[in-house]
Amino acid sequence: MTALDTSKTVAVIGAGTMGAGIAQVAAAAGHPVLLFDVADGAARAAIVTIGKGLDRLVTREKISRETADAIVGHIVPANGLEALTGASLVIEAIVENLDIKQALFAQLEDIVAAGAILATNTSSISVTSIARGLRAPGRVAGLHFFNPAPVMKLVEIVSGRVTDPAIAETLFDTATAWGKIAVHTRSTPGFIVNRVARPFYAEALRLCEEQVADPATLDALMKGGGGFPMGPFELMDLIGNDVNYAVSLSVFNAYYQDPRFRPSLLQLELVNAGHLGRKSGRGYYDYTEGAKRPLPRFETPKAGIPPLGNFKIGTDKELEGVQIALSDGRMASEVARELRRPVILHDFMSDGATTLGFAVSADMPDSIVSRFVASLSPEGIDAVRLPDWPGLVVLRTLSMLANEGFEASLQGVADQSDIDLAMRYGLNHPQGPITRAKEIGLVRVLSVLDSIFRLTGDPRYRASFALRNSSADDVNHHSIDPDVAPAI
Ligand code: NAI
Repeated sequence: MTALDTSKTVAVIGAGTMGAGIAQVAAAAGHPVLLFDVADGAARAAIVTIGKGLDRLVTREKISRETADAIVGHIVPANGLEALTGASLVIEAIVENLDIKQALFAQLEDIVAAGAILATNTSSISVTSIARGLRAPGRVAGLHFFNPAPVMKLVEIVSGRVTDPAIAETLFDTATAWGKIAVHTRSTPGFIVNRVARPFYAEALRLCEEQVADPATLDALMKGGGGFPMGPFELMDLIGNDVNYAVSLSVFNAYYQDPRFRPSLLQLELVNAGHLGRKSGRGYYDYTEGAKRPLPRFETPKAGIPPLGNFKIGTDKELEGVQIALSDGRMASEVARELRRPVILHDFMSDGATTLGFAVSADMPDSIVSRFVASLSPEGIDAVRLPDWPGLVVLRTLSMLANEGFEASLQGVADQSDIDLAMRYGLNHPQGPITRAKEIGLVRVLSVLDSIFRLTGDPRYRASFALRNSSADDVNHHSIDPDVAPAI
């Protein structure tokens, strides 16, 4: 264990949203903390804000008065950079601008001791570039917290081209000692989370653009079917559509406009309209007082309609001449032609799910659709009828998230286990994308991507070689069960 001893001083530069949160985390761990901001009085004001936040926790009996006072007591405003001379770890959380960050680190080199660690909280700038030109660039690393820093568990430890591995280890152990989940990653655009998360938004935006479903219905499917704590549209409205669009565009350009990261014109139009989300009162949803949330378009179960046989989610089945199966990325009509029987394909459902999307092959009688819906409602499952679209909604998104996770692991951005941890603790996803894909079955996930790629011709859906390669040894082989549905 090489965690920084709690007697050592941590300096935080930049007392904005992130700097204040990081200062609180370091102080809560017991370090003396120096907080510096270029704006007059900003550090002092941030300490007052931290104190108020802690007061609320005391009122809600989450922490004791003594603890709150001790945390605030550990943070001291610094009047100038020179005051940071005794710091063993400096964490920079200033404006996101390479030149300004480089100039700051160059100044710091002359102020702090030779053994002090210089860390940056940058979300999007290359750690390698920030360290460039310093006398000792090996002591610079990324320490990427998530907002709000005292609440979000994840910290990405970002190694640049010349970061000393011992420095990355110390930061990893220190973040762990501070109660965080630390993961190692290489300095690449978006690191882990801001890269691997792109499809969560991008697939929803694309499905909405293609008029597969509206935001409320897509959010309901991702939450009720995929088990995500928030739907993509709600989350984009919370983050701010301007911020989310800017991150998407920056990752897209940073990867030389790889179509995998192509931003959405729909999102751009919201930004153009000033519909930035909660902060502007309107985004995909209307947040003005008294505004009603649009309801998801669930099918209404009809009274007195008998359910379709003894249908149970999770097993592919032929019931009364209709094949019911979990999607494998093909269109229902395509599978129907192959099997020469009508087909209902349904979306992926996580454990305890309450919402299920489905699509039917052409010429499916309405009576069968009603009976399928009737067999879901006693199970407490709301059904969403979708157009016959490859991969439907949840399965397509999970497949794309996994694909990006595999691709990031292939490129050595991080280990698969760290990618999974990062997505769970940086975004509160119920499971990491790679673990989830393994549970679904890598053969199916690959089939979903290959089908969408074949049907759309869009290189955005090309499967990562790492996924294709891993799927070859997939023992959890799920595809439409040939015993029940023999291909004719
Ligand atoms: P912010 O705008 O809330 O705060 C930045 C603070 O830095 C301001 O108080 C400003 O006065 C101060 N500052 C600017 N230049 C300075 C300098 N040369 N020396 C000292 N102080 C200076 O920004 P925020 O959101 O806290 O972001 C800070 C950093 O954290 C950025 O690099 C950002 O990319 C990164 N980040 C932001 C996240 C977020 O959700 N806001 C999440 C993770 C990282």
